Amino acid sequence: MNPEYSHVHSENFDLFLSPNVGRLKDIFNKYLDGLDFKSKINLTDFGTNDGKNIFPFLRIMIELIRQRSASCEICVTLNDQPTNDFSALVKNAEDFKKEMKDDFLAVHTIPGSAYHRCLPDETIDIGTCSLMLHFLSEYVVLENALMYVPGLLVSDEETTKVRSLAAEDLKNFIRARLTEMKKGAIFFVNIPTDPLVLHEMCSSTFYQLYQRNVISKEELRNTFVPTNNARTETDVKTAFVEIGKDNGAELLHFTHRRVKMYQNKDLVKCVRAWIIPCLMAGLCQTRSNNDAADVCELFFQDLRGRLSDVKCVNYKIYEVIFQKL
Ligand SMILES: C[S@@+](CC[C@H](N)C(=O)[O-])C[C@H]1O[C@@H](n2cnc3c(N)ncnc32)[C@H](O)[C@@H]1O
Repeated sequence: MNPEYSHVHSENFDLFLSPNVGRLKDIFNKYLDGLDFKSKINLTDFGTNDGKNIFPFLRIMIELIRQRSASCEICVTLNDQPTNDFSALVKNAEDFKKEMKDDFLAVHTIPGSAYHRCLPDETIDIGTCSLMLHFLSEYVVLENALMYVPGLLVSDEETTKVRSLAAEDLKNFIRARLTEMKKGAIFFVNIPTDPLVLHEMCSSTFYQLYQRNVISKEELRNTFVPTNNARTETDVKTAFVEIGKDNGAELLHFTHRRVKMYQNKDLVKCVRAWIIPCLMAGLCQTRSNNDAADVCELFFQDLRGRLSDVKCVNYKIYEVIFQKL
C-alpha cells in the first residue's frame, strides 16, 4: 500500500479499535484465567499495513498478560499481503519491540493472504483484523465499474460474482483462523460497509474518463478496486452459521455502528492512498508508467471537484468477536 497510508489513516486505532478494547479485555481476561503461562502466548494481526494502528492495541493486551506473568514468552505476528510495504512494517515492528522493553517479547512479520492459512495450527491466543475483510481475494472483471456498487454500472451477473466471492472469502478467512487458533482463543474483526456515495463517485468519475475517450474500453475493464463494501448483517452472520459450532465457530459478539471517517482531512488524499495501486495495476497493462500516472492525476483532479462539498465519509462498521470452541 502507498506510503502515505499511515499519515492519512492515523486515527484508525481511535475510531475502530479503541471502542472495543474494554469488551476484548474482559473476554481475554477470562481466557487468561484458564492458562498456566508455561507455553508461549501468541497475538496476531492480519492486514496490518505499517502496523501503527495495531501497536496501541497490542500494548494493552501485552500489559494484561504481564499482570499475570512477568516472564512467559509472548509472540506477536503481523500479517499483510506480499505487495504490502514490508520494510516499513518491519522497521515499525522493531521500534515497537524496543519501546516495549520486554526481554520475553518477540515480534514477527508474515507475508501471505489472510484468506489462506498463514500460521501453524492451534497457535493464536488472540487475533485481530481491522479494515481488511472488505478486500476481495481476487480481481473480478467488471466491464464498466471501477468499484462494486450495487446497481451502478454493474450487471446482475457481475453482482452475483462479487457477492459470492465475498461470501467465500469471509468463510475462508474464518476457517483459516479457526485452524490457527488455540481452543478458547478469541478473534476480533471489523468489516466496513456502506460508504457507497464515495464509491459511486469514484466509479462514475472513472467511467467519465472512458466517455471522454481518455481511457479505452479495455482499460475500463482492466481497472478494478477489488473491494465489496456492500455486505449486509445477514451476509456476515450467515458465514458463522454455515461454518457452525461443530467446526468450532462461536459468534460471541456482533454489533454495528456508524463511523465518520476522514473528518477534517483531505478526502482525495485519503482515498488516493488505497486506490492508486489498483489504478496503476489496471492502466499499466496497456500504458507506460508515466502515461498511467497522468491518467491517475486527471482522475483525482476530477474526483476532487466532485468531492468538494463532502466533508467526511459515513461508514457502517460490523464488529465481530468469535471464539474457537
Ligand atoms: C485499509 S488497510 C487497514 C490497515 C490496518 N489494519 C488499519 O486498521 O489501519 C487494509 C490492509 O489490508 C491488507 N490486505 C488486503 N488484502 C489482504 C489479504 N488478502 N491478506 C492480507 N492483507 C490484506 C492491505 O494490504 C492493507 O494493508
